[in-house]
Amino acid sequence: MTTENNNITKRENDYEQETLNNERLLSEHEYDGIRELDNDMPFWLKWLFILSIAFAFIYLIRLWVFRSDDLYQLKEYQAEVAAANTNPAAAARSEAFELVLLQDEGSLAQGKEIWTKTCAVCHLADGGGLVGPNMTDNYWLHGNTLEDIYGVIENGVIDKGMLSYKDQYSPKQRLEVASYILVKLHGSTPAKAKEPQGELYE
Ligand code: HEC
Repeated sequence: MTTENNNITKRENDYEQETLNNERLLSEHEYDGIRELDNDMPFWLKWLFILSIAFAFIYLIRLWVFRSDDLYQLKEYQAEVAAANTNPAAAARSEAFELVLLQDEGSLAQGKEIWTKTCAVCHLADGGGLVGPNMTDNYWLHGNTLEDIYGVIENGVIDKGMLSYKDQYSPKQRLEVASYILVKLHGSTPAKAKEPQGELYE
């Protein structure tokens, strides 16, 4: 019954009406004879919509015009890394754990002190070896890199009589003595060298 009416051209605010309660009907929207009322959006939904548009504008202006730091993951990441690095405790930690051979005389002197005091009993002061192996030759039981040597000092080889110095010395001190072995002892000529142990590393 309404199909004929729908085809009649209407002015904009010329609504069709629901016959029961005289409410406005959505025009040109009918499915199996069912119509919908043309109600206004609830005010909260309308404001949510408007605010989300406003938010999008502010966001895009901050992103494209002001290039705000907090909207870029990369910048955010860099800022956090920078903050972590300026934190003295963290800096000291990462410095200690950076396994780089120490070459300066100060660190090597520290290393020598630890060596003479603690390690010389088994390895001899000149590194020639006694209970523990010779440090001056090219034969190593556990590898010849800084990591290998640092690892032995840290964890020990308990069943073979080499202790772990994890608790006795800080990472920095362990690095100092490892560097001392590689820079000063290795390649030197000890008074009495113990026979080679382990594999030959060129
Ligand atoms: C109680 C004796 C003893 C003391 C003290 C000792 N070591 Fe050792 N060390 C050994 C023995 C034994 C080995 C051989 C372990 C094996 O056979 O695997 C060894 C092995 C090592 C190795 C590995 C050598 C290789 O050929 O791979 C390093 C490096 C080392 N010691 C460093 C040190 C340092 C540094 C100290 C002092 C902080 C120290 N040791 C103190 C007995 C000792």
